[in-house]
Amino acid sequence: MGFKLTEEFKAKAEKICTQYPRRDAALIPLLLELQKETSYIAEEGMDYSRVKAVTTFYTMFNREPAGKYHLQVCRNISCHMAGAPGLLERLRKKLAIAEGETTKDGLFTLSCVECLGACGLAPVIQVNDKYFENLTAEKVDALLENLRHEL
Ligand code: FES
Repeated sequence: MGFKLTEEFKAKAEKICTQYPRRDAALIPLLLELQKETSYIAEEGMDYSRVKAVTTFYTMFNREPAGKYHLQVCRNISCHMAGAPGLLERLRKKLAIAEGETTKDGLFTLSCVECLGACGLAPVIQVNDKYFENLTAEKVDALLENLRHEL
């Protein structure tokens, strides 16, 4: 019997991943569910489960098509204390989108992420693969303007 990944299994896998605070912890439950479905763990199933668990844990992987600029606002303690909630609110208003959404023109996606590892330079926003640190409301406004002009 060959391996076939059904839509039903994909939906179950999605649900399993949301049940764990650390999504990499979903790997074993995903494999158990897969084994229940197919009676064994085929190579393709291993790949799928590992990839699913990893991509749902690490915020560096987008699971939806993202805008040209992916604004990832750090929400952990140092950034929180240094004003990240205000910056997030400012971005929400300026871009007229909520967290997890992309602007209609496809330019910006807004997300919140866990610690970016630059706590001493909080608050931090990652835009694609670049960090912007020690941010203020004014710097965020300038950042948006610069990104718009990079077009
Ligand atoms: S808390 Fe934001 S970079 Fe660590």
